[in-house]
Amino acid sequence: MMKKRLWITRRLSDATLARAERDYDVVINHEDTPGTAEELIAASAEFDAIVPCHSEHFSADVVAQFADRLQIVANHSVGVDHCDLPALKARGITVTNTPDVLSDATAELAMLLMLGAARHAVAGDRIVRTGQWDSWSPAFMVGKQVTGARLGIIGMGRVGRAFAAKARGFDMEIHYYNRSELPEDQAQGAVYHDSVESLLQVADFLSLHCPATPETTNLMNAERFALLPEGAIVVNSARGALVDETALIDALDKGQVSAAGLDCFQVEPGGNPAFAAYDNIFMLPHIGSATRATRDAMGFRALDNLDAFFAGKTPGDKL
Ligand code: DGY
Repeated sequence: MMKKRLWITRRLSDATLARAERDYDVVINHEDTPGTAEELIAASAEFDAIVPCHSEHFSADVVAQFADRLQIVANHSVGVDHCDLPALKARGITVTNTPDVLSDATAELAMLLMLGAARHAVAGDRIVRTGQWDSWSPAFMVGKQVTGARLGIIGMGRVGRAFAAKARGFDMEIHYYNRSELPEDQAQGAVYHDSVESLLQVADFLSLHCPATPETTNLMNAERFALLPEGAIVVNSARGALVDETALIDALDKGQVSAAGLDCFQVEPGGNPAFAAYDNIFMLPHIGSATRATRDAMGFRALDNLDAFFAGKTPGDKL
C-alpha cells in the first residue's frame, strides 16, 4: 500500500522522526524554521497530513487558501490556539493534539518558575556568575516562603492538577478556579472558587494553567492584579496571551506583585524587552514540555493519532 505523505514542520525527537520515516512518506524540515503561511498553503496540496508545532499558524485566512489534499493536522502540542479550529473543521480537516503526556514536564517547569521567582534566582545567579558576590548578611536576598503558603491555580485541567500534586509536596494550601468544580478524587482537597476574583484574593502564589482562547485573553488584567494579596507571586507556564504584560509591569512597580515566573509571552519568540529591567521576573523561553522523555511522548502521541486516522479510526485526541 502507498504510504501517506506527511510533512513534519520542525525537528522533532530522533525517535519520533525514525518512527515517522518508517511508517510514512515523510518530508522533515531539518532546518527547523517555523513553517510560514506560504509553506502551509503549499503543503496542503502536497501532503495528506501535517505534524506541526505551536509555531505554525493555521489562521482562517491560511486555511481558506488550502488545497483539498490535506486530511489531518496532527499537532505536536497540547495547546491549539495556533489553529483556527472552526476554519479547519469547515474544510473537513481533522485536528488532534497531544494532551496528558506533557503535564508533568510543564508542571515541573511551573514549580521551577515559582521557586525561582520566590527566591531571587535571576539576581542571585548573576551576582555569583559575574564575581559580584562580595558580602553576605541575614538581610541579603530574603525571599518568600513557598511551604505552607496559599496557592491559587487557574485552570485545573491535566497540567493544573499535576502542578497541584507537586505543590502538595510543599504543603501548600491549594485553591483553584475552573469552569466547573472537580470531583473530590481529582480535587484532592483543593478549595474550589466559582470566580477568578474570589480565587485571586487568597492567591499568595498564582499559577495559570488554562488555554488561550478569546475568553482568556488578558485574563490577568490591571483590575485582577489589584485583587491579589500584596506581594503575590505570579507564574505563567501556559500561554502569554493570558497576561496583560503592561498591567503586570504596573503591578510589579506597585509591589502588588513581588515577582513573576514566566515561560510564555505575548510575543514569541522574543518575549517582552521591557521585562529585562526587572530582576524579579524569572524568565524561560517557552520550554515547559522540553524534556527528552516528553518530546518522545509528544511525538509518539501525534503519530498514534495519525496512525488511527489513516486506519479509519477516530484518533484518540481528535478535537
Ligand atoms: C504545548 O504543547 O502547547 C506547548 O506549549 C508546546 O508547544
